[in-house]
Amino acid sequence: MTALTSHPSGPLSGAARIPGDKSMSHRALMLGALAVGESEIHGLLEGEDVMCTARAVRALGAEAARGADGLWRVQGVGVGGLGEPAEILDMGNAGTGVRLLMGMVASHPITCQLTGDESLRGRPMGRIAEPLRRMGARIIARDGCRLPLTVVGAADPQALEYASPVPSAQVKSAVLLAGLNTPGETTVIEAAPTRDHSEHMLRHFGADIRVREADSGAMAITLTGQPELEGQKVAVPGDPSSAAFPAAAALIVPGSTLTIPNVGVNPLRAGLYACLREMGAEIEFQQGREQGGEPIADLVVRAGGLKGIEVPGDRAPTMIDEYPILAVVAACAEGETVMRGIGELRVKECDRLAAMAEGLAACGVGVEEGEDYLVVEGRGGPPPGGATVASRLDHRIAMAFLVLGMGCQKPVTIDDGAPMDTSFPGFAALLNSLGANIV
Ligand code: S3P
Repeated sequence: MTALTSHPSGPLSGAARIPGDKSMSHRALMLGALAVGESEIHGLLEGEDVMCTARAVRALGAEAARGADGLWRVQGVGVGGLGEPAEILDMGNAGTGVRLLMGMVASHPITCQLTGDESLRGRPMGRIAEPLRRMGARIIARDGCRLPLTVVGAADPQALEYASPVPSAQVKSAVLLAGLNTPGETTVIEAAPTRDHSEHMLRHFGADIRVREADSGAMAITLTGQPELEGQKVAVPGDPSSAAFPAAAALIVPGSTLTIPNVGVNPLRAGLYACLREMGAEIEFQQGREQGGEPIADLVVRAGGLKGIEVPGDRAPTMIDEYPILAVVAACAEGETVMRGIGELRVKECDRLAAMAEGLAACGVGVEEGEDYLVVEGRGGPPPGGATVASRLDHRIAMAFLVLGMGCQKPVTIDDGAPMDTSFPGFAALLNSLGANIV
């Protein structure tokens, strides 16, 4: 455990170069592994979560390594070509890694054992196991369908039309990845659209994937099985979920102006930025461009007066990882911010609703925590701070409270900064280079 203390900060300025998108990095390695030939990945996130996925695809028979030029190269085995790993795959803290991997192996006739850290072993895997079992895989897991678990992949996988009961890109992606080595058409129907990086990247690698509107606004995503995927060049943009932390810091520390270059701004990831603008934040998306079907921009953020808002519940899938940092901004805004329909936060890397409510209260912020909502009482100025908060093996809780400390009257300490390496290696050093004081 490495405790870190974030002291009240002077104005931030400069350019915050943030690491690659975590969601896209996992997918690039996995699709590279399922393609024929070489893929070249530019901007891969070299955080611990993604490194677990790199080790896993190697254990399944692909080659994946970083070149001296900083590019990652993957030699794929082709759809249907995964081999049985000789060891248990430890996926660390990586929820996306383990869930997408379950999908990948479920339609290969191999047995694969998966485990993770204490946080990951506590997370529910039933939402993934259920559709994969219907496709023919056997999944043997601990009580509550928790890790460690074993996937016995189907020798004769069956195509599925699956209406996901939870709005989850991980569920959608696991089913689509299983559909790759399944004859026929696999369809996922989602009532509320979730991040569509898998769809864009599958298309980029040559899969036939179609998206159409189904009943009452639902989306149906259909993949034709057993395509020949071909190795591709993939450019991974900066992670909007990581950009959220320096952006929030710039908003709450008076006098700050930050540029955050090369950030993915896929509308299904950009809900936080819509909320911040509604709160009165000055955030510009400059130099809008596109790469591999994904929109990218340079963000310019300036500190300024912020007001509390009611966050529309249907925005949750587009900002599901951003509620901790939104709650921090809300604590420094004027008036109440109400976040409803966020029960999913209880099954992330930790129970993020409880972690935010407890940590904010310890820092002197008024909060109300409900089963699936959070209300934060903004003080229109720096909250008291002066507390130590548990990061609970959760990178986003750790980063959120370090940002809060920058805008508080007294320092905020987190008991453990190590989880930040899963998604944002070098977080404290980067913020310090922009003007923060994290020690
Ligand atoms: C992710 C999907 C989200 C998100 C996670 C990454 C992905 O999870 O919280 O950090 O890459 O597909 P859910 O699909 O469970 O909402």
